[in-house]
Amino acid sequence: MKVVVIGTGYVGLVQGTILSEFGHNVTCLDIDSDKIENLNKGIIPIYEKGLEEIVRKNLKLGRLNFSNDIIKYILEGDIIFLAVGTPPSEDGSADLKAIYSVAKQIGENIVSSKIIVTKSTVPVGTGDEVEKIIDEECKKRGLSLEVSVISNPEFLREGRAVEDCINPDRVIIGGENLRAMEIIKNLYAPLIEKDIPFVLTNRRTSEMIKYASNAFLAVKISFINEISLLAEKIGANTQQISKAMGLDKRIAPSFLECGAGYGGSCFPKDTKAIVEIAKSYDEELSIISSAISANEKQKQRMVEKIVKNVGKLKDKSFAVLGLSFKPETDDMREAPSLDIIKGIIDRGGKIKAFCPEGIRESKIRLKEYSEHITYCNDEIEATSDVDGVILVTEWSIFKNMDIFELRKRVKDNFYFDLRNVFTENSEIRKIFKYFPVGQK
Ligand code: UGA
Repeated sequence: MKVVVIGTGYVGLVQGTILSEFGHNVTCLDIDSDKIENLNKGIIPIYEKGLEEIVRKNLKLGRLNFSNDIIKYILEGDIIFLAVGTPPSEDGSADLKAIYSVAKQIGENIVSSKIIVTKSTVPVGTGDEVEKIIDEECKKRGLSLEVSVISNPEFLREGRAVEDCINPDRVIIGGENLRAMEIIKNLYAPLIEKDIPFVLTNRRTSEMIKYASNAFLAVKISFINEISLLAEKIGANTQQISKAMGLDKRIAPSFLECGAGYGGSCFPKDTKAIVEIAKSYDEELSIISSAISANEKQKQRMVEKIVKNVGKLKDKSFAVLGLSFKPETDDMREAPSLDIIKGIIDRGGKIKAFCPEGIRESKIRLKEYSEHITYCNDEIEATSDVDGVILVTEWSIFKNMDIFELRKRVKDNFYFDLRNVFTENSEIRKIFKYFPVGQK
């Protein structure tokens, strides 16, 4: 079976590559010709551990190729994955223009049966609409083809995308045609062999599973972040609260770490989108809405925490360690660092910033603030001659810094550990005015 993946963003590129690693013949398509040219040389546009090696290996084996000739491969493919972007519109709902335009292109061109698989996170009912668009376009050309539209949402995390695709917790396949669903299931044969659970369900349920999962994780983070604000005031320790809560099997330990708030392209986008979907059905998702506002509050609270402890920020300088929304990625979308840096500069402070991967994108996103930010070549330069240090993203390079050497470089002794990296280190409290999140 020939597999075609339309869209070479995070999801499309990783999923297409892994399907070729599973032994399938895969072509990944994109309208960006420069990107395609680079990909065919094995140059990948994102930072993702292990991905480049697998891309190069499968290019060499001839199982994977990249092209911008969308029509040619739409005609050749038996299975067409849709992995184009669904960015948020102004009101927070998912913008489906790219999905629908690809569906139209498929309907206008195909001459044989196809299985279409939506990998992008799409609102409930999008699969129905994709099917309708393709059917209508085929009918206009006098064709009646068997086209099955399957929902097969992606659960990969940025920074661990390859690992998550090879070892997912579960695979969800939603559709109305059992034969097509079985074909898609068999694409993942190595996962069946590993006994990874498969959930076969209808298309709308599958689309909803993705939103419900991301929204639940966002709620979990906002929940512990709110607990942390209270814990800090009453003198309780949130890390110990999380640990003890997580020991209850019904709660589970992961995604209970308090910090500077969640960011990235997924939680902020998907929580807003599901709230908008609900509105269009006259339902209010008040828990998810509250998680969204709690996350905004959390980022602002980090700035307030700095002001409360340092005093006036005018002419004070801070080293910001970590810009990307989490470690092991260059993604700056909705990164808490953006709000924290803006908050400090708006109050008259100056920033020296370092991040292993986030600087390039940060320069674009913080363009209006650029005269107050010095981007540094490493963590040593960033922490030299500043009044305080703010650790925003927990890259291991920052975890491994020698705090005694650090103390010599920092003028005043403020250390804001917004990811609770050093809470177990008793020395840091002796040499710095140390402020973690959610505990004294
Ligand atoms: C998230 C989901 O975890 C994936 O399963 C999903 O496939 C993906 O969205 C998507 O929809 O495509 P991702 O956005 O890559 O993945 O990042 P996560 O590792 O989930 O982290 C999200 C944010 O939550 C980060 O800013 C992280 O710092 C924050 N976080 C995470 C916390 O503040 N506390 C925690 O305990 C865990």
